Amino acid sequence: MKDVQTLTQEEAAAELAQLAIDLSAANRAYHQNDAPEISDADYDALKRRNAEIEAQFPELKRTDSPTDKVGAEPASGFQKITHSVPMLSLGNAFDDGDVTEFDRSIRKYLGFGDEDPLAYTAEPKIDGLSLSLRYENGQLIHAATRGDGTTGENVTSNARTIADIPAHIPNAPDLLEIRGEVYMSHADFEALNTRQSETGDKTFANPRNAAAGSLRQLDARITESRPLCFFAYAWGSLSAPLGETQSGAIQQLKNFGFQINELTKTCNGPVEMIEHYRDIETKRATLGYDIDGVVYKVDDLALQARLGFRSTTPRWAIAHKFPAELAWTRLETIDIQVGRTGALSPVARLQPVTVGGVIVSNATLHNEDYIAGLGGDGSKIRGGKDIREGDWVQVYRAGDVIPKVADVDLTKRPKTAMPYVFPTVCHECGSDAIRDDGDAIRRCTGGLICPAQAIEKLKHFVSRAAFDIEGLGAKQVEQFLEDGWIKEPADIFELRARFGAGLQQLKNREGWGEKSAENLFDAIDERRTIEFHRFLFGLGIRHLGEAAAKDLARNFADWETLADTADRAALEPATTDASKDAAAQSPAWATFLEIDGIGRALTQSLVAALAQDHERAVIDRLVAHLTILPPEDQASDSPVAGKTVVFTGTLEKMTRAEAKARAEALGAKVSGSVSAKTDLLVAGPGAGSKAKKATDLGIETIDEDGWIALIDGL
Ligand code: IVH
Repeated sequence: MKDVQTLTQEEAAAELAQLAIDLSAANRAYHQNDAPEISDADYDALKRRNAEIEAQFPELKRTDSPTDKVGAEPASGFQKITHSVPMLSLGNAFDDGDVTEFDRSIRKYLGFGDEDPLAYTAEPKIDGLSLSLRYENGQLIHAATRGDGTTGENVTSNARTIADIPAHIPNAPDLLEIRGEVYMSHADFEALNTRQSETGDKTFANPRNAAAGSLRQLDARITESRPLCFFAYAWGSLSAPLGETQSGAIQQLKNFGFQINELTKTCNGPVEMIEHYRDIETKRATLGYDIDGVVYKVDDLALQARLGFRSTTPRWAIAHKFPAELAWTRLETIDIQVGRTGALSPVARLQPVTVGGVIVSNATLHNEDYIAGLGGDGSKIRGGKDIREGDWVQVYRAGDVIPKVADVDLTKRPKTAMPYVFPTVCHECGSDAIRDDGDAIRRCTGGLICPAQAIEKLKHFVSRAAFDIEGLGAKQVEQFLEDGWIKEPADIFELRARFGAGLQQLKNREGWGEKSAENLFDAIDERRTIEFHRFLFGLGIRHLGEAAAKDLARNFADWETLADTADRAALEPATTDASKDAAAQSPAWATFLEIDGIGRALTQSLVAALAQDHERAVIDRLVAHLTILPPEDQASDSPVAGKTVVFTGTLEKMTRAEAKARAEALGAKVSGSVSAKTDLLVAGPGAGSKAKKATDLGIETIDEDGWIALIDGL
């Protein structure tokens, strides 16, 4: 190897390019495939060489430089970018009724009558992957994938290779963030797969996978060799508005030089929207690229702003999906999986079959009633036909959801096929598996003594929306659990103390070296400080999903307050309704139920989990290692952040639902009754006893215009 000092510029550039490839291959082998191809010492030597060349030739440092990869495992080797405005997903409509309901709920929210005009845009939903492009003073600064919606991967050098993405926009506002879909045409997909198989390389199952695989290349030259396209359809941060309407803004995107979808149409209400949907559906096969539905968006951007967002989806848009794709195949066996909450989930193992371009070999069977041919309410489904091992079944998949079994062909049922007997004992730990009244799911009662539950809980704990510890994925969790190094989340935070001094033990394990162990400990340390909602979600409590975790985090000052409220709720009679009497009887319960998005099932499961000694001890031991950050207050500079607000009387410029959602989005807590805890009363005409009580208690009271002025521009 040549001394760095003697390298020519050209040699240095070539070597850096090769190092970037070799190091990313090593990273991939190690982190993604869990199959290291080079020793840690060799890996470290490559990194050192890379750093030395970069020090000598700083101007040659690559945008995908391995030096910039932070932590043990930049999940896939890319740097991360935090989106200035989250990249959300869309709610779904599956039939015409859902579309009418979408329009109805928007009218209700805005206080619009049936006759008030309300326009929508309707455009194809491109089946690719979304990308956010940031332009500053007209120059493309970076490109990021959606990731988890908050943080994505930096794929700037890759995006620069896509012809549909301008590197420079002369007439752009100072700050312009464009969002859209990267996709691959059918023709390019076929050609790519032919090339790949000729060269013995991996082929792709469908254009979407091909587009994703091509964009997410650590070597941008590979992306460049793949024909990717881009449609622009949305935006993030802007220094100047793009227009007054969605359709106007889209035209503006076209003026900037982006491709926009020519099948975008402005429609006056659901009838026209559905008509356009049907039209697009008939054109679908000849478009030359994959679409999986039609997206409807409220056209007026001021109304979009009023409608705002739920935790993960906008209120002003919805995706009307095309019907699911179907295929018939043989169901070979039924397996039972034990989830983190002990649920026994039956899975159909299928003879692999292509459903809408994707190979399917597993399908969910939901629960034992479903297998027996019974629906949630005990009535017959599939005409009462049960599902048996050996059956010929119809499989369907809609969008990204797990494939399901739609039907059984009884004429093809083998004579030997017997009705499926659902286990009543957990095969993982031998504990009884029981079904509570009214619950369709049979659950293992083993709790954390059940290895399957323990492992699933831990995997959930480290998952992306929870603690997201780089370098500690499902594989590593399994390994550590097997070795007895971790049993519960708190153990993860003790790993350094246990192994830090004598790294030897971890180092001797296959796949671990001093460097990677050190990186892992660093990544764990980073997560000792954790956002409240990630912590809550990570607990893996039944019904406590990501959205509910965010709702809870927004409404409790900290973990102690939440736990305390749950402890008090455990001593109260559970409320069965939301009436005032019930709230008076069970104030702690009411505290949970008053939160938009928090229901009885979740409250019950949360209260029960925290009241269980063992589970609580596990949580307390975890909490001892953590600094839990209060909810990220995007609204901390809002004058109502953290305040308790009550609305009363008639609101004339917005509906109650809108006022409440807006106040909550600005960090306020909205309550239905005035008490000493109330900070602000917004009283419209006809306000009665609440206004009087507020005056008596000396609580600040304003009218609707006062409220609008208060939150103006936020
Ligand atoms: S609008 C606030 N329009 O669908 C949400 N999304 O299921 C803005 N997608 O993540 C999204 N075509 O990747 C929008 N014409 C279109 C789309 C589209 C495809 C994707 C996008 C999004 C996903 C949501």
